[in-house]
Amino acid sequence: MEILTALGTPAGRADPYPLYAALHEMGEAVQIGPGHVMVVGYEAINSVLRDPGFRVSDESSFDEDFPSWRANPVFVQAMDWILNLNDPRHARIRSLIARTFTARRVAGLEPAIAGMADGLLDAMAERGADGGAVEFMHDFAYLLPVTVICELIGIPEADREAFRPLARDLVAVFELNDVATLPAINAAAEELLAYFTALAARRRADPRDDLLSDLLAVSDSGDGRLTDAELLNNLTLLLVAGFETTTNLLGNGLQIILQDPPAGDAVRDGSAPPTAFVEEVLRFDSPVQLTSRVGYDTDVRGVSVSGNTEVITLLGAGNRDPRRFTNPGRFDPMRPDGGPLSFGGGAHFCVGAALARLEGAVAFPRLLRRFPKISAAGEPTRRDTLILRGFETLPVTVA
Ligand code: HEM
Repeated sequence: MEILTALGTPAGRADPYPLYAALHEMGEAVQIGPGHVMVVGYEAINSVLRDPGFRVSDESSFDEDFPSWRANPVFVQAMDWILNLNDPRHARIRSLIARTFTARRVAGLEPAIAGMADGLLDAMAERGADGGAVEFMHDFAYLLPVTVICELIGIPEADREAFRPLARDLVAVFELNDVATLPAINAAAEELLAYFTALAARRRADPRDDLLSDLLAVSDSGDGRLTDAELLNNLTLLLVAGFETTTNLLGNGLQIILQDPPAGDAVRDGSAPPTAFVEEVLRFDSPVQLTSRVGYDTDVRGVSVSGNTEVITLLGAGNRDPRRFTNPGRFDPMRPDGGPLSFGGGAHFCVGAALARLEGAVAFPRLLRRFPKISAAGEPTRRDTLILRGFETLPVTVA
């Protein structure tokens, strides 16, 4: 209980890793009160996420825990998100999305990502030319992922400026700990849905080579495989799932470099491949720290679980499990025992993993080569969040 209480404090959230180390000493899974089990071991997390007996909380859980959810547009949308669906709906919708979100489409985005990154770096260079501080989170980490998702979906450039703040408001739904934020989240959800509805009408009339046009082709193929609502609502999911997560990958990675300059030199001179660097950032400081499942009658590493148990899988702790990783607190892109849990596992494994990895692998070498002297300019501030881990501000000098 002491460890859990500490995890709930700002200091514990700022550096949860000593607390995770203490949890590892207690075993792979820990009962944390009636109806709640926390899984911290790498292998145990992996098996829970891959076990179809464990379900995500879906509409039925919402009906029990929050019966008035239908009054909130964001939850009406969220109940169609594949993240919150179990089979058979999950398998049906996910496979259709996966058919349009192909490796070819992701790889094809590389030149656009490089171009966007260079444009943002140009602006940072200009702003920081006098040696003053520039804000990495605001000027780069926040802008790149949302622009990339816009490009992927096929949102015209002219609309993107208006789009970003809405996406930002909507992402807050993942860390909902204050109902006072619900009106802004609902408003963003409604506005985004209205926008996607209008854009879908345009793409139906005039298809392009983008994900939205492909999804429409699937949903219009006549056998009702994807309803309009399922399609449009899962577009908003792509936006929220791919935005702040990737922003935090960029911010957490840069902070590691600022504190450990040789790690940056290795990426700059190519001795650490960018993909290996990104994998190790994901492991060392995961942008998503946890996810959860609803249990069934079974046990997790000796801790009993039932249909009423909430099973919290602490991905950030699994990534530092000393049973799985040698010297887990050491940042080492060349470690032979890589394989973070940061994108989850099993049926809900992150749809955007290849895209997020590509963004990181394109962005870090460009950033570091463009700014050989990049350094911290004061203390960064953390976002005080538990699920998503990242910075609010990360000031740097680049000249
Ligand atoms: C570093 C960046 C990212 C991280 C750390 C991350 C992490 C995750 C995790 C942990 C899950 C599984 C959640 C669970 O099992 O409950 C997930 C699912 C998902 N992610 Fe990502 N993600 C990232 C980027 C992206 C991007 C760029 C996109 C899309 C543009 C995306 C779209 C999704 C979707 C749609 C799901 C739901 C999959 C399903 O439920 O079947 N993610 N992500």
